[in-house]
Amino acid sequence: MEHYLIPVIPFQKQLIVRGEGSYIYDDKGERYLDLNSGQFCTVLGHANPELAACVKEISETIAHTSSGILSEVVLKAAKRINEISGELDARCILLSTGAEAVEFAVRYAKHITGKDGLVCFEKGYHGLTLGTQSITFGGKYAAPAINDIFSVPIPGENDTAECIEAFAEVTERNKNRIAAVVMEPIVSVGGMIYPGREYFREVRRICDKNDLLLIFDESQTGFGRTGAWFCYQEFDVIPDMVVCSKGIGMGYPVSAVLFRGELCERKLTMTHYSSHQNDPFAAGIVAFGIDYMEKNELLRSNREKGAYFLEKLKEVTERNRLFVRARGCGMMLGMDISIPGVENYRPIYEKVSNLAAEKKVLLQGTDGGRVLRFLLDYLISGSNIDFCADVLGGIRL
Ligand SMILES: Cc1ncc(COP(=O)(O)O)c(C=O)c1O
Repeated sequence: MEHYLIPVIPFQKQLIVRGEGSYIYDDKGERYLDLNSGQFCTVLGHANPELAACVKEISETIAHTSSGILSEVVLKAAKRINEISGELDARCILLSTGAEAVEFAVRYAKHITGKDGLVCFEKGYHGLTLGTQSITFGGKYAAPAINDIFSVPIPGENDTAECIEAFAEVTERNKNRIAAVVMEPIVSVGGMIYPGREYFREVRRICDKNDLLLIFDESQTGFGRTGAWFCYQEFDVIPDMVVCSKGIGMGYPVSAVLFRGELCERKLTMTHYSSHQNDPFAAGIVAFGIDYMEKNELLRSNREKGAYFLEKLKEVTERNRLFVRARGCGMMLGMDISIPGVENYRPIYEKVSNLAAEKKVLLQGTDGGRVLRFLLDYLISGSNIDFCADVLGGIRL
């Protein structure tokens, strides 16, 4: 396909012209089941008519203000975020992308603590700006990485008690240099790993002991995906900051950073400017999204549909030996491809995803193609879940 784009990644062969619900349509009129809500963003499906009406209204009212000017809708969105944040008692800022939000959180963490260092997971993902690439995959691909990055192993892949010990050891030893711990509650890009509540409770305790801030990057898990508004609520752990992106924008570039209410009682003297911070555009979308999810009881339905899909994936692993370890919760599930003796899963994944695409199902692989992930839109139908399971069950290499 000829184009004038910077080739930052290999593009797929379909040329998309429109989307509707869980489907996207190419220029030949073929429709594909989009099992990952775009890049985990279109949680209300593509071209949701009520969301489209909301965006129209915003465009016809006011979409943008200068950074220091507040609009009514921004106050409303911040109040709604506070309400769904529970014990966090959140104060928030609205921004545009996940990496921008992580940068903001880290910037303030350094400011509040007067320290520089960050602790992150060995296989965590937080974006690819100059700052965030230093904590993505433990800074492995950052050239150069920022100073004082400490990466730790992930439970779920490793023994939980050993991981807690490793975390305690690193943080105790370097507590005078560390500002914050930045972690995904579910490690997605790193391979759909679920460290679990026991681990995060210990992390919280150790952070408190050593005066470190705890930042949850809920870019993927936030805004209802796992069946709670935020994953920290399921763990009963109150972080100091929460990053939320992707789902909160429902396909539009919206992110948010939530500060634990008490954090704002400290003197926050640092200023922050970004052209689209606290825009009425973002606020209108967020306020609409929260109302929509409550009205349609999507937290409950995400839990139920997720449990149903997990059952289906487990059945797939029973009838197709190519797949193992179906796992996950809510609309955030994963399953491994497994072939004895294979180390490089990239070509295997290519075959699997091409076979699925022939059946008009779009998959996403991660961790070098070894893991399939499913971050479905919240409105996906039971029959589409069944169809997906049938396609996966029938894949033979
Ligand atoms: C957990 C997490 N944090 C941050 C980001 C970066 O978000 P963005 O690509 O919007 O900058 C991502 C993107 O995949 C993510 O999954």
